[in-house]
Amino acid sequence: MDSKAGSRYPEVYAGWKRDPEGFWAEAAKSIDWVEAPKKIFDKDAGVYGRWFPDAVCNTCYNAIDRHVKAGRGAQNAIIYDSPVTGTKRAFTYAELQAEVTTLAAMLKDFGVGRGDRVILYMPMVPEALFAMYACARIGAIHSVVFGGFAAKELATRIDDAKPKMILTASCGIEVARVIPYKPLLDEAIKLSTHKPQDVLLLQRPQLEASMITGRDHDWGALLAAARRDGKTADCVPLLATDPLYILYTSGTTGIPKGVVRDNGGHMVALHWSMKNIYGIEPGEVFWAASDIGWVVGHSYIVYAPLFTGCTSILYEGKPVGTPDAGAFWRVCAEHGVAALFTAPTAFRAIKKEDPNAKMLAGHDLSKFRTLFLAGERADPDTIQWAEKILKVPVIDHWWQTETGWTIAGNPVGLGQMTVKYGSSSVPMPGYDIDILDENGKPVGPGKMGSIAVKLPLPPSCLPTLWQQDDRFHESYLAEFPGYYKTADAGFRDEDGYVFIMSRTDDIINVAGHRLSTGGMEEILSAHPDVAECAVVGIKDELKGEVPCGFIVLKTGVNRHPSEIEKEVVALVREKIGPVAAFKVAITVSRLPKTRSGKILRGTMKKIADRDAWNMPATIDDPAILDEIATALRGRGLGI
Ligand code: COA
Ligand code: AMP
Repeated sequence: MDSKAGSRYPEVYAGWKRDPEGFWAEAAKSIDWVEAPKKIFDKDAGVYGRWFPDAVCNTCYNAIDRHVKAGRGAQNAIIYDSPVTGTKRAFTYAELQAEVTTLAAMLKDFGVGRGDRVILYMPMVPEALFAMYACARIGAIHSVVFGGFAAKELATRIDDAKPKMILTASCGIEVARVIPYKPLLDEAIKLSTHKPQDVLLLQRPQLEASMITGRDHDWGALLAAARRDGKTADCVPLLATDPLYILYTSGTTGIPKGVVRDNGGHMVALHWSMKNIYGIEPGEVFWAASDIGWVVGHSYIVYAPLFTGCTSILYEGKPVGTPDAGAFWRVCAEHGVAALFTAPTAFRAIKKEDPNAKMLAGHDLSKFRTLFLAGERADPDTIQWAEKILKVPVIDHWWQTETGWTIAGNPVGLGQMTVKYGSSSVPMPGYDIDILDENGKPVGPGKMGSIAVKLPLPPSCLPTLWQQDDRFHESYLAEFPGYYKTADAGFRDEDGYVFIMSRTDDIINVAGHRLSTGGMEEILSAHPDVAECAVVGIKDELKGEVPCGFIVLKTGVNRHPSEIEKEVVALVREKIGPVAAFKVAITVSRLPKTRSGKILRGTMKKIADRDAWNMPATIDDPAILDEIATALRGRGLGI
């Protein structure tokens, strides 16, 4: 099959490979620089080199001010659509500029400036976006923490980022439930060693939060005062290599990794992606149905659509339940969405509630051209169902928090290539991918291996982990010298299509959210009655995977195992947060291990998933696997 017929992809990819610096120098011309890059890549700077090392720029200027200057002031930049509060509001580029310049001035009044960190623990409200742009405007480094994380996770991030200030809101809203944020924040600050000087709190009408005198400040009151005084702040010239943000993501231990994104490379790659990968033109409406706490939200709610002069949708709701499975179609029709980007799990949720897509009826999707899926493996069933009901191309693409944009995809802007179900298609310019065996040697087509990207990584990819060059090197670069280890495993076919099959570490993907089973095991082992434990991700029809914990109780514990199981479930919710979706803990008398003592998590997962499995040659006692299968039965897992 000629999968590339009609697409410009092969020539563009080959062009990049021939002259990577020339490719990115050309792409960089789409950005308004204070000082344009003279040097495109410095291979001797940073851990593996740095992009645009001598350029000076400002991300907020490129997202907002330049469009106002160019005559887009009256066009909507952000449409906030919040079925959970019954609110819709649009902000034009000019209005957004006014909001952001005022908030930036407020932050400066708190002494926040270039290089200072600001943590945002906020729901999906416009003020969260204003805050991200305001930080970018004055050179402060934002770090957004997803609202579904518990106090302890927030505390870990506070201690790592050491923010001068935290921005928060009184509550988030989960369908019909109001989730108070302030008690979680207060608890996190109590737990953390680093104490931020100030907290700026947005009181939402659904819930009023209490304030700590001296530390906490009322967002609304300060905003009114700043507006009255006509305060504004200009864009600060920054080095392209200055950090724009830190976004924490699960690592292989309970300690999250602070992925650093710089200003210049991020703008260049994301701007390139909008036209060439997503096929979107300035003025069109782009909707990433994600959360600003995740990388998809950062890149494709907050930044890329605005770099391109598009309208971005900020949706505070769910695919189902707010109020029903027709919510996505309503939003697409009402706002004239041209492209929707979400996780497959959202479509599985819609398909479950409305299998025949009856709720699509009456919605005018004539502007809707493409559905993009990422965040987890897109199962062929879901893709085919979406294709059938929407009658538009459904494009799977693969990326990571670390990269900030597509590693492999099907670039509709360059001309769509054949969709192969189960594959996220082909590497984007910037990414030279190899599939490696255990010895780091590339394997041929159809052979599974570790997926690695040849260094240097392209613009937008992390230059390092926040203040941890060594950990960056150790986690990503050490195992396969000359490569970045993606920690995903998979294969490539004869046409060069990439198939992402699993992770090579302990990360699982729950409803598109990335979580460390190692982090959960640390919590289970800390329970006083638990001797040892193992957490594995098991198949789930809706969320792709959910965690399942196996616990072995200490000798002499004579409480009922179900009580302890409930306690460990509650502990994970308390320590990591509801986002972990940890609902099943199962007591077993022992765990299956190899003779050298390694827990056989992979085999346990296969048993739970009812996949074919072979008895591991090195197993200590094969009878234990039967015990695991017996324990799994009758636990509501369909086993
Ligand atoms: N603040 C507080 N709690 C939150 C939260 C937030 N921002 N986001 C999620 N939670 C809670 C949920 O209420 C739920 O709590 P519960 O255990 O009390 O029910 C828990 O965290 C798990 O959330 P989630 O995994 O989102 O499951 P869900 O059952 O609420 O919704 C989907 C399932 C599929 C509808 C939902 O995951 C979804 O819309 N996914 C879309 C894709 C997406 O956002 N992907 C991210 C990367 S692109
Ligand atoms: P995150 O950093 O949260 O975006 O998660 C990144 C991880 O999600 C990747 O390393 C993959 O394991 C998985 N992932 C993301 N997109 C895809 C995809 N299109 N297909 C398969 N897995 C994916």
